[in-house]
Amino acid sequence: MHWTVLVLASGLLVVTVALDNGLMRTPPMGWLAWERFRCNTDCERDPKNCISENLFTDMADRLAEDGWRELGYVYITIDDCWASMQRDEQGRLQADPKRFPRGIHRLSRYMHDRGLKLGIYGDMGTHTCGGYPGTPLDKIEVDAQTFADWEVDMLKFDGCYSNTAEQEQGYPRMSKALNATGRPIGYSCSWPAYQGGLPPQVNYGLLAKICNLWRNYADIQDSWDSVLKIVDWFFDNQEVLIAAAGPGGWNDPDMLIIGDFGLSMEQSRSQMALWAIMAAPLFMSNDLRTISSGARSILQNKMAISINQDPLGLQGRRILKEKSGIEVFWRPLSNDASALLFFSRRNDMPYRYQTSLSKLNYTTGIYKVNDVFSGKSVTLKDSSNFVVSVNPTGVVMWYISAPAKPRPLPHQFSRGGRFEEFGRGDLANAIPPVFL
Ligand code: GLA
Repeated sequence: MHWTVLVLASGLLVVTVALDNGLMRTPPMGWLAWERFRCNTDCERDPKNCISENLFTDMADRLAEDGWRELGYVYITIDDCWASMQRDEQGRLQADPKRFPRGIHRLSRYMHDRGLKLGIYGDMGTHTCGGYPGTPLDKIEVDAQTFADWEVDMLKFDGCYSNTAEQEQGYPRMSKALNATGRPIGYSCSWPAYQGGLPPQVNYGLLAKICNLWRNYADIQDSWDSVLKIVDWFFDNQEVLIAAAGPGGWNDPDMLIIGDFGLSMEQSRSQMALWAIMAAPLFMSNDLRTISSGARSILQNKMAISINQDPLGLQGRRILKEKSGIEVFWRPLSNDASALLFFSRRNDMPYRYQTSLSKLNYTTGIYKVNDVFSGKSVTLKDSSNFVVSVNPTGVVMWYISAPAKPRPLPHQFSRGGRFEEFGRGDLANAIPPVFL
């Protein structure tokens, strides 16, 4: 099937399914505590890194002052281990009073004053995964109202300590309850991750109607191995997942770990690029107070972000898996543009991969190619062979503008002026251009 047909087909699907609370028309961006800070509640010994209001105000300051907010990184989300072990006298969740002395409402005000948004974590079940009070079925409405009263902007709703039947009731019921509060609250559902992530257990049509994003798969850890496992699962199951995603409803392969300890710079670029191809939420889980300039420039790469945030909201796909270990990914973008990604699964040395745009299903034309991470740009004919040098575990990512209509070549190259022969076997192909 031709790409344009696929694009149209998935585009139609998107229009019919997305949750209608008007939120998250592009994948949400921001910061999420879990991967880096976990359930560290030891504020006496580790005051800088424990789950406390100071951690969230520190990160808010960084988002607001270090150029993140302007790029779209606006959600700051509290994960597990924020709550007190007891509900209050009215049966409402409350924050741990030692670690959040001013309470969650003050924290959301702090975010709003700085043009940011606050996310919070709950769990469909008796307990959160960390053992804190959960939201069993009979507490859904009261908890939704509590979050709305606190002026929270997003809820990550986990699924520990509940069974399949309870989840089947609970996730749609929380969606309704959030809507009923009248406050726009983005809704992140971990439901599919608890049901194996695939049909028939998972009904993606329903999910897109009730959630703005959903965790499909296992938790990310601070390692390259973990990133690869996630990437493989998402692209091995791409047909199902692409059909589910669109403006207002996104597959969530989990947090960005760029700026932590487990990834090299090459691997960090790879995670950023692959998450952009997947139209994935960009929730960093790192320490923005001490992040290196290298990691920061990858996370703040404007072209990668604009690919991720493309308004068409079509999730990209893997189009080739070469024996050489090079994989090629493609994502259609608005204005007839596209993103192309060359990813190396090799562990030896930079690999010189030769191909042409027409071999990658691009139609006849002249394309402007912008290299996302080097900033260079070139003009490329669909039929011209080129070479990209892809580093081990690294990527080369391109933003490709809509093709210009091919013009007939000057007489001496035009092979009798036959337009359809444009570019085939012409002199420019004798030496393939190399992009380093
Ligand atoms: C689950 C979720 C994680 C995190 C932890 C918190 O494992 O998938 O993202 O929220 O629970 O306990």
